[in-house]
Amino acid sequence: MPYQRNCVTVLLFQIMSLKAIDALPITAHPMTQFATGVMALQVQSEFQKAYEKGIHKSKYWEPTYEDSLSLIARVPIVASYVYRRIYKDGKVIPMNDSLDYGANFSHMLGFDSPEMQELMRLYVTIHSDHEGGNVSAHTGHLVASALSDPYLSFAAALNGLAGPLHGLANQEVLLWIKSVVKECGENITTEQLKDYVWKTLNSGKVVPGFGHGVLRKTDPRYTCQREFALKHLPDDPLFQLVSKLYEVVPPVLTQLGKVKNPWPNVDAHSGVLLNYYGLTEARYYTVLFGVSRSIGICSQLIWDRALGLPLERPKSVTMEWLENHCKKASEN
Ligand code: MLT
Repeated sequence: MPYQRNCVTVLLFQIMSLKAIDALPITAHPMTQFATGVMALQVQSEFQKAYEKGIHKSKYWEPTYEDSLSLIARVPIVASYVYRRIYKDGKVIPMNDSLDYGANFSHMLGFDSPEMQELMRLYVTIHSDHEGGNVSAHTGHLVASALSDPYLSFAAALNGLAGPLHGLANQEVLLWIKSVVKECGENITTEQLKDYVWKTLNSGKVVPGFGHGVLRKTDPRYTCQREFALKHLPDDPLFQLVSKLYEVVPPVLTQLGKVKNPWPNVDAHSGVLLNYYGLTEARYYTVLFGVSRSIGICSQLIWDRALGLPLERPKSVTMEWLENHCKKASEN
């Protein structure tokens, strides 16, 4: 067993990760606390140890695989600690080995209803990844291309996920929806909602949760969550507002003319589902996304090592190339 570990050491390193989080102010954003905890886990990297011992490159994938499994298993512990520290009593809820990944994560956060566990299974699955070009998956791949281990690569990916144009959008959606309710009430009419959307756009902001870098239709992950809501919470006022937005926002964005995809994405729906089951702290939502994405990113890192992919480096150009390019562009 090349990667057999001493349980006491693993536990000690786990505690060190939580202590690293404790060094941050409680007011630090949950994503900052989460990424810090993940970085502190890096001291356990099997890849780093194997590399230092001179492992042959054809075998790189093996400790990468080992690190990836450990990382995926440990991130719910770090993430739930961040939640309990900021919003609850700070006490760690021990994992329950009889539960699956999603249900156990929900349990460690402090939510034990079967409906919330089912939602967390759906959440983790659909957020794990949907291709490799998004900021977090691409960052993980880029950093790993320097032979940084999975902990370092995934922590870097989390910092990309923390941006409002990427994973932080799920926090923004619920806050925006709540601002609609605060200003216009839950029984807002379609006309009032349209006015609110225009007001948001005219103030130089985006309507969070609509549009996508590559998708050109409704995000299938939005549709999954809509189906879940239709089954479990059809009468929830915030879900009804989300449904109304589905009717109102795409035509407004189309009318705006500049938007390539006016349809809702995964983030447009997730917040109202979590909010319904009591996970109301929107600032924490991106951490849930991060835990889920560990599965997609780490799987890609194992393939990167198995295929021996090279260091990634964008092409550089000379000043001469740039001048010629601009000259040609101005002639067209
Ligand atoms: C994602 O899942 O990462 C988002 O949909 C963003 C993207 O794919 O670019």
